Amino acid sequence: MSKPLSPEVIAIVKRTAPIMQQHGLAITTRMYDRLFTDPKMKALFDNAGSAPGEQPKRLAAAILAYAQNVDNLSALHGAIERVAKRHVAAHIAPEHYGPVADALLPAIKDILGDAVDASILEAWKEAYWFLAEVLQNREKAIARP
Ligand code: HEM
Repeated sequence: MSKPLSPEVIAIVKRTAPIMQQHGLAITTRMYDRLFTDPKMKALFDNAGSAPGEQPKRLAAAILAYAQNVDNLSALHGAIERVAKRHVAAHIAPEHYGPVADALLPAIKDILGDAVDASILEAWKEAYWFLAEVLQNREKAIARP
């Protein structure tokens, strides 16, 4: 079970979720520019069989949207199940979560600049890893029931 997020982190993420979503497409685009410099990461998406460009957008939009519910994961139960199944089908493994974090967090800073400070980025990092752990646990269970 993931360590619960602190009330401070939850407050920061919820307060800043609207600005993240407002700039979601720019953040997403920058995130994939960063992520796809690694051909192995790009191949995971190319081989997933969806329309080019579609899933990446959904993925990043989901990370931004889910953050609003970091304190109420039961509201996300259905979405988490669907994503975990898609990930297992696309051969996503725990070691892939680091590169996505390393692309997403700097992309937020690239796009939002001075509107985000270190404490905001740290809160988003914690929220990302919280969700990542929930997904990884489900993916393990689905892959090896
Ligand atoms: C907290 C982290 C993550 C979230 C919230 C997330 C969310 C999502 C969502 C919403 C989808 C679309 C599901 C649907 O079809 O309805 C998706 C698909 C996908 N995700 Fe993730 N994802 C995360 C981490 C990752 C990581 C680390 C990778 C590895 C590079 C990854 C790779 C993919 C791929 C390749 C697909 C497309 C699957 C397909 O086309 O069938 N995701 N993800």
